[in-house]
Amino acid sequence: MTELAAIRAQFPALAHKRYFNYGGQGPLPEPALEAIQTTYRHLQVTGPFSGQALDWVSQMVAQTRAAIAQELGAPPATFTLTDSVTSGCNIALWGLDWHPGDHLLLSDCEHPGVIATAQQLHRRLGVELSTCPILATLNQGDPIATVIEALQPRTRLVVLSHILWNTGQVLPLGELMVACRQHHPNILFLIDAAQSVGVLPLNLAQLGADFYAFTGHKWWCGPDGVGGLYVNPAILDQVQPTYIGWRGIETNASGQPTGWKPDSRRFEIATTAYPLYTGLKAALDLHPQGGTAAERYQRILQLSQQLWTGLATISGVTCLRTTPPESGLISFQIAGWDCRQAVQHLEKRSFHLRVIAHPYCIRACTHYLTQPDEIMALIAAIQALVSKR
Ligand SMILES: Cc1ncc(COP(=O)(O)O)c(C=O)c1O
Repeated sequence: MTELAAIRAQFPALAHKRYFNYGGQGPLPEPALEAIQTTYRHLQVTGPFSGQALDWVSQMVAQTRAAIAQELGAPPATFTLTDSVTSGCNIALWGLDWHPGDHLLLSDCEHPGVIATAQQLHRRLGVELSTCPILATLNQGDPIATVIEALQPRTRLVVLSHILWNTGQVLPLGELMVACRQHHPNILFLIDAAQSVGVLPLNLAQLGADFYAFTGHKWWCGPDGVGGLYVNPAILDQVQPTYIGWRGIETNASGQPTGWKPDSRRFEIATTAYPLYTGLKAALDLHPQGGTAAERYQRILQLSQQLWTGLATISGVTCLRTTPPESGLISFQIAGWDCRQAVQHLEKRSFHLRVIAHPYCIRACTHYLTQPDEIMALIAAIQALVSKR
């Protein structure tokens, strides 16, 4: 068995299906499942509420934070542990000191949960919203110029995804943020990293984002329910916690709150399902067996290129991208087939893909765990669909 096949064999979800939904949710490997179960049991045996159990939990939380920090290239204290991408985005969006008429810019490819949060900021605080047309830059045009053109004198925050969830386009974030700040030095950037964490090799200390919100349950293949938010220490004093609890505060000898934790932990709230953290740590420990982050990204690109090239040979299939993919997300349409029906049809044949509402298309994800023969089988299944019409 090759090294990759041996890693793949540890994922029960991959045994009997062809899985192309990593951007929706990654499968959990056995070591993560075991870690979660073992931790729940251990905490029942030693606690659940005892000095020993609580010490163990706090060490385990620190280890998970350190593993995330190692993977993303920034110090552990810059990370808030959350339960999802969306809750990380909410911390940033509600945490700024907004004034009526301040401007919030989003791309036109953001996730509905993030758009809805921005709309609530408009309703409750009078924040002005607008979107910039990034979708149109998929195959031509300049995303950097598009964002700069949409900035306004009162723009406080720009919300962008690092990898667009609908088309797979990778935004040139580092360059984009530098260029925007030349015009407006005080603008902050909130990055939705749902589709980039676990895909791109990342160094957040160098990237220059103010907020970078991610989850463990997609490309990292951790359990659902554990994510994180990077907050650049340089802007920490510009963000106030909105939901508050004992995990984010310091207390005095009489147990009274005296202030926030000195770092990004101030945005954490209270009791959570801690055993899930060991599940994420176990998943993170597994991936280096598949190569460095850069090697895994290269493999993702090779595989997505195989799929993109194969789909292009089928007459009647249109990939949204006209140039080779930059990520593991491939979006396409099949002439004569409604996308929803095509996805249902493929699922009956054990191919798992999803529909994207805008632009209306089918999305397939290739992970470094994907096998070339799964891709060949998917291409053949889509060819068979086309021939049916
Ligand atoms: C770009 C993007 N943002 C946010 C989300 C929501 O993620 P979560 O459920 O972790 O908040 C998703 C999920 O698919 C996504 O693709």
